[in-house]
Amino acid sequence: MSVLSGKKILLGVTGGIAAYKTTYLVRLLIKAGATVKVVMTPAARDFVTPLTLSTLSKHPVLTHFTNEEDENDTWNNHVELGLWADLIIIAPATANTISKMVNGTIDNLLLATYCSAKCSVYFAPAMDLDMYKHPSTTANFDKLASYGNLMIPAGDGELASGLSGKGRMAEPEEIIQFIEQHIESQLPLRGKTCLITAGPTYEAIDPVRFIGNHSSGKMGAAIAMELATQGARVHLIMGPSHVVCQHELIDRVNIKSAQQMYDAVHEIINVVDVAIFSAAVADYRPSNPADQKIKKKSDTLTIKLVKNPDILASVGAMEKKPFLVGFALETDNELEHAFAKVEKKQTDLLILNSMRDKGAGFGVDTNKITIIDKDKNTSTIETKPKTEVAKDIINEIIKRIL
Ligand code: CTP
Repeated sequence: MSVLSGKKILLGVTGGIAAYKTTYLVRLLIKAGATVKVVMTPAARDFVTPLTLSTLSKHPVLTHFTNEEDENDTWNNHVELGLWADLIIIAPATANTISKMVNGTIDNLLLATYCSAKCSVYFAPAMDLDMYKHPSTTANFDKLASYGNLMIPAGDGELASGLSGKGRMAEPEEIIQFIEQHIESQLPLRGKTCLITAGPTYEAIDPVRFIGNHSSGKMGAAIAMELATQGARVHLIMGPSHVVCQHELIDRVNIKSAQQMYDAVHEIINVVDVAIFSAAVADYRPSNPADQKIKKKSDTLTIKLVKNPDILASVGAMEKKPFLVGFALETDNELEHAFAKVEKKQTDLLILNSMRDKGAGFGVDTNKITIIDKDKNTSTIETKPKTEVAKDIINEIIKRIL
């Protein structure tokens, strides 16, 4: 999945022949999962039509501060637009627009929006070769970089003037690749390896029956996705679950029993920076699972159970251990039980769920949690979707490990 997925992108198109390439750029951004709004300078409309870009972006294309053709004339609020954007791309960026960006000249909606924005701004220059290397242009490039703007350098090749040299706007694919790589390089968990256990475990009674629980694996999958979104390499060790959890940074190992989960965890725990144990592990397993299906011969059946290894506690007891996060699902005396688990399992953070809270626990898409640190400080997060809870948990971890 692209890091541009879910991002709100404002594309500023200025008046150069390369403006025609922005039709393809918009398509690629949308394909990457971004929401795109386009602002054009008046000159850009000579090179590509607003209709094309509004059709591709599925949003009206804005150029002026007011919509003159509209009899119910509305004000296009550049401040709102600038704050809406997660990132701005100005492509093509002409020498004229670049000069105005440097000097704070605001004579159109795009420049007003640029000056109002707080997000990252990428610009892809496009101009003739002599303009590109003119001292005023190179000085402006440097000034824009000093303001924190990110330049996507032009390429070499044939130019609209018929001359050949540097000045061709980077191709749409190159623009996307540049921005993706830049965002990835800024992700807080880049370079970190994380492990997460999730879902239930099934403990075999015989070849067709098992002891299990109602865990869906949704919370663990949401955490795995959030870890990957923040740039971590993720080892997801998942019990039987239908939950789909796909990301190029997630390596999923499917297991069934607690013992298999224990083995999978200990195979990689030494290379892990953060380990999160959200699985609902069966505490006991049948001591002697039958090889054949058990027939109902008698009125009662006794199955002897033996204790499973406590995977979280086994990692908590390691001399050199990763940052450790456990979960606790309780039905009564929640805090008291959770505090005992912090000590017993030596967690850095413990995420407490109470079965008494509406909208928390197994199967549902929401959760309500209390985060407990190793000094037993607590903070409660009200009921919200598991994907949002996952963000809160990961932000709490990031605050403590970086
Ligand atoms: N856990 C584990 N291995 C086990 C049991 C639990 O890794 N065999 C982990 C869970 O993934 C969770 C934490 O320990 O992060 C607490 O699990 P929980 O079931 O609430 O606690 P238990 O230790 O099983 O205690 P009890 O069932 O008595 O409340």
